[in-house]
Amino acid sequence: MPLLEAEDVHRTYRLGRTEVPVLKGASIRVKAGEWVAILGSSGSGKSTLLHLLGGLDRPDAGAVRFRGESISRFSPRRLDRYRNEHVGFVFQFYHLLPELNVLENTMIPAMVGVGRFEWLRRRGEIRERARALLERFGLSHRVRHRPAELSGGERQRVAIARALMHRPDVLMADEPTGNLDAKTGEAILETLAEQHRAGLTVVMVTHDQWIAARADRIVHLVDGRVA
Ligand SMILES: Nc1ncnc2c1ncn2[C@@H]1O[C@H](COP(=O)(O)OP(=O)(O)OP(=O)(O)O)[C@@H](O)[C@H]1O
Ligand SMILES: [Mg+2]
Repeated sequence: MPLLEAEDVHRTYRLGRTEVPVLKGASIRVKAGEWVAILGSSGSGKSTLLHLLGGLDRPDAGAVRFRGESISRFSPRRLDRYRNEHVGFVFQFYHLLPELNVLENTMIPAMVGVGRFEWLRRRGEIRERARALLERFGLSHRVRHRPAELSGGERQRVAIARALMHRPDVLMADEPTGNLDAKTGEAILETLAEQHRAGLTVVMVTHDQWIAARADRIVHLVDGRVA
């Protein structure tokens, strides 16, 4: 059984009277421990597909399954839990909270869904884990800084640390090197490769075939389907 799969998913965006069909029966299977790259041109629906796999959006038709269970049919609450327990998401544009410092940004996933008393009881342990992750990514000297004071590569490393905070089963990365220069992008890819070697399942989206080539397997998204 694949860890994660999309089967014949359709997704159409509606803008007033215009319909924009983006996914037209896309299917993909991801095995546990695999690193899969979804390669496609700009506007081909890569982010749309990744959002469906990560439970950030639902398909109009077709199914998304995690360990054989259809997450597309989950209640909103159950879908939140799926995301919190199993998915780490790295967004194309970091999505760090500007008012929070690096350490606080990293701790966000661990704070979601935790009641006041549990937070008080566990905050020491949560903070230690966040510090350890940031140290591993070479950000120890930046924990008190706000995102605006960081370089692009540092921001992306914070975003990856945040995505790993709650020990997800799958890391989903949307153009993780899209806004970075070649050298910084290479360092980020090496960080993903390290996580993959440690056993993490990775689904990465990119329009760059050289970046996609770092994965175990490449699937092409063309005309709303996986070719
Ligand atoms: N919320 C939305 N409402 C309307 N149209 C949307 C929405 N999100 C995406 N689209 C459209 O759907 C198509 C696919 O978008 P998507 O973001 O999935 O592409 P992508 O492959 O990730 O592109 P890129 O490489 O530029 O990030 C695009 O034509 C886009 O304009
Ligand atoms: Mg995109």
